[in-house]
Amino acid sequence: MLRHEDNVLITHTNPGTPMGDLFRYYWIPCVGSEELVADGKPLQLKLLGEDLVAFRDSEGKVGLVDERCPHRGTSLAFGINAGCGLTCMYHGWKFDVNGDCIDLPSEPESSGFRNSIRLKSYPTHEANGIIWAYMGPAEKQPPVPDFYWMNLPEENVMAERVWQDCNYLQVMENDVDYVHAAFLHKAHNTQSVEEGVLSSDLGIDPNHPLVKNPPVKQAVESTNYGKRYIGVGKADETTHAFMEIHYIFPFYTYPPRFEGEDGMWHAFIPRDDHSTWSWDVQFSHRKPINRQAQHDRRGLNLDKDLRKLRNLSNSYEQDRSLMIDGNFSGIRGIANQDHAATETMGPIVDRSKEHLGTSDMPIIQMRRMLLNAVADLQEGIEPPLLDNSTLMQLYSKGVYAPKEKTWNEALPLDDKYAIKQGAGKR
Ligand code: FES
Ligand SMILES: [Fe+2]
Repeated sequence: MLRHEDNVLITHTNPGTPMGDLFRYYWIPCVGSEELVADGKPLQLKLLGEDLVAFRDSEGKVGLVDERCPHRGTSLAFGINAGCGLTCMYHGWKFDVNGDCIDLPSEPESSGFRNSIRLKSYPTHEANGIIWAYMGPAEKQPPVPDFYWMNLPEENVMAERVWQDCNYLQVMENDVDYVHAAFLHKAHNTQSVEEGVLSSDLGIDPNHPLVKNPPVKQAVESTNYGKRYIGVGKADETTHAFMEIHYIFPFYTYPPRFEGEDGMWHAFIPRDDHSTWSWDVQFSHRKPINRQAQHDRRGLNLDKDLRKLRNLSNSYEQDRSLMIDGNFSGIRGIANQDHAATETMGPIVDRSKEHLGTSDMPIIQMRRMLLNAVADLQEGIEPPLLDNSTLMQLYSKGVYAPKEKTWNEALPLDDKYAIKQGAGKR
């Protein structure tokens, strides 16, 4: 459990909050490249409680700016995107992607007024079909993270941005929670799946190590990127299954996967304190990804605002007859199952009322890391810098090994991920 005040501290990320300050030290995936067309409609985008607008100018450059016009506050999402800038529809003030005012036709140019006007704007970076943003102090801007999947061919990767109706932390906690897979994602019967794909839309095969034998034994170690969690389950009488989850500080994860399965990477970006942009990247290591099978497995169908069609208002279309002969939850789509479990907790779950067991160890460790880092930042100690030279090789691995092996014999941590004195400082 968490004390009420720690729950507030860890879940609130609006401007001026301690956790909001911390998150702003890191690059944030914000929109898919295909969502912005040169001179096309500007996109309203809420991030960390800030109302922003993303647009692509005539030259293809991306701007991420305050939604409110600095003149008198009209929404720039309604503005005119043309001629390398975004023009407010009210009095014609025009801004470029850097937030500079490049035309102010309602005042005489000779007054010099235009040069005193700036629109808040954040740096962006476009790579692998995703536009990233940095919303922190300019002098602390780190390199854009170079994740493993960003170095794979484009056709091996698929990315999805989804609006999730609860605080980021309960979504992220779900991702490091090994044990939930054995219940929430359990299909009652053997599932036939396409090569590389973890599950059907009903769920995970009952013989898969993620499902087969709860509670798994778990271990955790601190690394130079965050935490590595290891789960150990029984494969058969002589063999154990060893699985990894990586938590990359502060809001990225690699959930568990075995050799032969496509990988998965997530980022959980607060939209505001009560909703989250859940980023899901599926990647195939050696061949083009099977987009249809992955889409069907996850089961998310979205509206134009990227909200789910199966949601709390229709009980995620839970089917109680499916619970008898189909799966544990009665909900179709692995991602819908996760969303249902986390959204039905309420917008911000009251962690002073929970009862954590040993299976919740990864969650406890993650919270502690976040709370320690936010306490440090309040004392002027900046949060750790991610090391791109090692990050680009990291993804979750799973192996089968004789049951006599310990977890660190079966899945040793490469020395490059070990914490070294003085490393990771800004
Ligand atoms: S409110 Fe935007 S130009 Fe006046
Ligand atoms: Fe899940």
